Amino acid sequence: LRISIVGAGYVGLTSAVCYADRGFNVYLLESDRAKAQQIKVEEPPFYEAGLREMLHEALASGKLEVSSDVKKAVLGSEITFIAVGTPSLSDGSIDLTHVGSAAKDIGKTLKIKGDYHLVVVRSTVTPGTTLNFVKPSLESSSGKRVGVEVGLAMQPEFLKEGSAIQDTFNPSRVVIGEYDSKSGDTLESFCRKLHGENVPPILRMNPTSAEVVKYASNAFLATKVSFINQIANICEKVEGVDVVKVADAMGLDDRIGRKFLNAGPGFGGSCFPKDLKALVAFSRELGYEPKLLEATLRINEEQANHVAELVREELGSVKEKKIAVLGLAFKPDTDDMRESQSIRIINRLMEEGAEVQAYDPAAMKNARELFGEKILYADSATNCLSGADCAVIVTEWDEFKKLNVEDFKRKMRTPIVVDTRRIYNPQEFRSLRYRAVGLKESAYTDEDERKVKERLRSLGYLG
Ligand code: UGA
Repeated sequence: LRISIVGAGYVGLTSAVCYADRGFNVYLLESDRAKAQQIKVEEPPFYEAGLREMLHEALASGKLEVSSDVKKAVLGSEITFIAVGTPSLSDGSIDLTHVGSAAKDIGKTLKIKGDYHLVVVRSTVTPGTTLNFVKPSLESSSGKRVGVEVGLAMQPEFLKEGSAIQDTFNPSRVVIGEYDSKSGDTLESFCRKLHGENVPPILRMNPTSAEVVKYASNAFLATKVSFINQIANICEKVEGVDVVKVADAMGLDDRIGRKFLNAGPGFGGSCFPKDLKALVAFSRELGYEPKLLEATLRINEEQANHVAELVREELGSVKEKKIAVLGLAFKPDTDDMRESQSIRIINRLMEEGAEVQAYDPAAMKNARELFGEKILYADSATNCLSGADCAVIVTEWDEFKKLNVEDFKRKMRTPIVVDTRRIYNPQEFRSLRYRAVGLKESAYTDEDERKVKERLRSLGYLG
């Protein structure tokens, strides 16, 4: 089996190198020439653990060919995956321009192709898109009938940034939304070859159900995060209660599970916010108000303000204060800052007159593009703390976990730490001012509290 993939984004590029690794011949189509060129010289356009090495292997073995020649790729393969972006429009719905042009381009080549060819939608698209949009596009441009000479399926992608390669090789399940059984059989046979001995559960259904599975899965996980953030905010108001302990105990119930129960600054990334907004817009269009999903989004927006509020509470006012922001990527092990809560938190702090000094192990380039001269950039975590009045941990990078109490005390003007990701032990951080999401501040002893207040008073922070 030879494979072609349209779109060299997260899903397209990761799938391409993984399929090549398993011995398939892969054409990766990318219309952005600069991006295609970058990939050809073994330079992934984004940071993902292990991707650079896999890309090198795939190109060196000759199994992967990067091009913009759709005709050659479709004629030279049996299956084409569409993995192009579906960005948000202003009303939350998704932009299908790239999916439409991919389907049209593939269809034009299918017109002259004699053999059966399967087209698989991997982009995240709202329910009904494969049947009502991709199918007619393919049929009108190819002049052929889907279900006869052309196969069509929708296979949602569940990979996470930061573990994209591992997730591609070991998915929790494969969902095949098939137009007809021949399409489903062809895709299932490819998946079985890809996974070899280690075949995950394969679930077959119609394309629209597969589209719903993708949105419902992301909406559920995002709701779990907003849920625990809401519990965290309640915990913060109750003497001596810590949301981490609550989540640990809840998570041991296997009906609940511990994953995605980490309270924090809220969720970000290119998927959760976009997919939730799309599902809300889709649902409203059908005349149904999805109140739970709306609340999930609203709680998430408010959570970033809540973090800024914790800083404000500690400093009285953030005006002209230097705030060290540790972590800019929406989660560790990626340079991706799309919809990162760090952006909301920084903007809020700056609106209130703070000076922000930031550091992230991977996202500095993206941060510079986003914030330009508006913030200061540090070249290491400890330098970021230099002269700061308050440090806010926004992303739980391992590098930050290694910082100890003395690092904060030595470097900062006033050692106040707001730990939104709960990476430090509150007991160990007792000797400085430690605030954390989901922890009532007076979970300290009275004596600790007195010492901290005294120090803050001596520095002029408290009346
Ligand atoms: C998410 C899904 O987890 C993937 O299954 C899906 O394929 C992907 O979206 C997609 O649709 O493409 P991803 O966006 O890479 O993957 O990131 P996650 O690991 O899910 O994290 C999303 C956000 O939730 C991050 O900002 C993270 O910090 C936050 N989060 C996650 C929490 O605040 N608490 C948690 O307990 C878990």
